[in-house]
Amino acid sequence: MGNKDRVVFVVDDEKGVQESMKMVLKDKYQVFTFDCPEEALADVALEPELIFTDIRMFSMNGLEFAERIKKMKPQVEVVIITAYPDLSSSLRALRSGAFDYIVKPFGKDEVLEAADRALQKRNQVVENTKMIQELRKAISLNYKATTRALVLAVDAKDSYTAEHSRRTSELLVAVGERIGIPDAKLITCKRAAELHDIGKIGIEESILKKEEPLALFELEKMRQHPLIGYQILRPTTFLEEGLSIILHHHERYDGKGYPEGLVGKKIPFPARLFAIIDTYDAITTQRCYGSKLSSIQAIKEIIKVKERQFDPSLVDLVVPHFLKFRKDGYLDRL
Ligand SMILES: [Fe+2]
Repeated sequence: MGNKDRVVFVVDDEKGVQESMKMVLKDKYQVFTFDCPEEALADVALEPELIFTDIRMFSMNGLEFAERIKKMKPQVEVVIITAYPDLSSSLRALRSGAFDYIVKPFGKDEVLEAADRALQKRNQVVENTKMIQELRKAISLNYKATTRALVLAVDAKDSYTAEHSRRTSELLVAVGERIGIPDAKLITCKRAAELHDIGKIGIEESILKKEEPLALFELEKMRQHPLIGYQILRPTTFLEEGLSIILHHHERYDGKGYPEGLVGKKIPFPARLFAIIDTYDAITTQRCYGSKLSSIQAIKEIIKVKERQFDPSLVDLVVPHFLKFRKDGYLDRL
């Protein structure tokens, strides 16, 4: 079965080959012929689904051409036309990304069958790619629904958490982008930031909502939330390196933090960065107790305690961005 919407390129420096291929294929496909690979590459916007190409051509070898086209358009299928078939050239053809080859002089049926096989394979690849994209979309939708459900569950106990999580994750992305954290890493860190206090789900409401300073035993319980959160989220796969934010966001650079008392650079980078942002948001927000600092007071406070609480070089790196965000009014809009 043919489909004249499907575009097929024939690349061969022999006019005779171009013409005979076109004669065979033109009833089923929309065929374009080219004398050399450069011309075909220049017309790649015609969206060929299949390319027949000679191996030995004046300007560029057909295998090199196949490699180039597969890099540009991975879903294009390539069938090599060769006059001298041997095992090593067939292997090279397949290695270059070509799907098949036909041997000169070729018959009509041979060409049509090769085209049919190659386009069937392309259909499969296109369908698989679509399926993978749909699965990814489903996972990402599911991740969002899961995250939302978890955040709401904590929020029901501690109404501060949802907004605190939103602000800290947004600020983490804004800072992360400016200090050059790669996008893929930033996505997982943002997800983790949204969920960093999820372990509070396992802490009593009486402790979470207490207006007076916590007693020592209550403090001990409260300090379990990073570990509880980590235990909840460890089996998931969407946080990757961001998982360290959940477990280590209350570690301190001097080793006096929790839950593991990690010192200095032993604290994973995402957690070292997030600790600054988490603290900034906590001290600029009115909680049950304690006074609220202005953005500039909070920045000064972070600088003051940088040697003890945070990675000092990281504080030096992010503070200029905090100051710029403050000037732009971004910190107040968070
Ligand atoms: Fe926390």
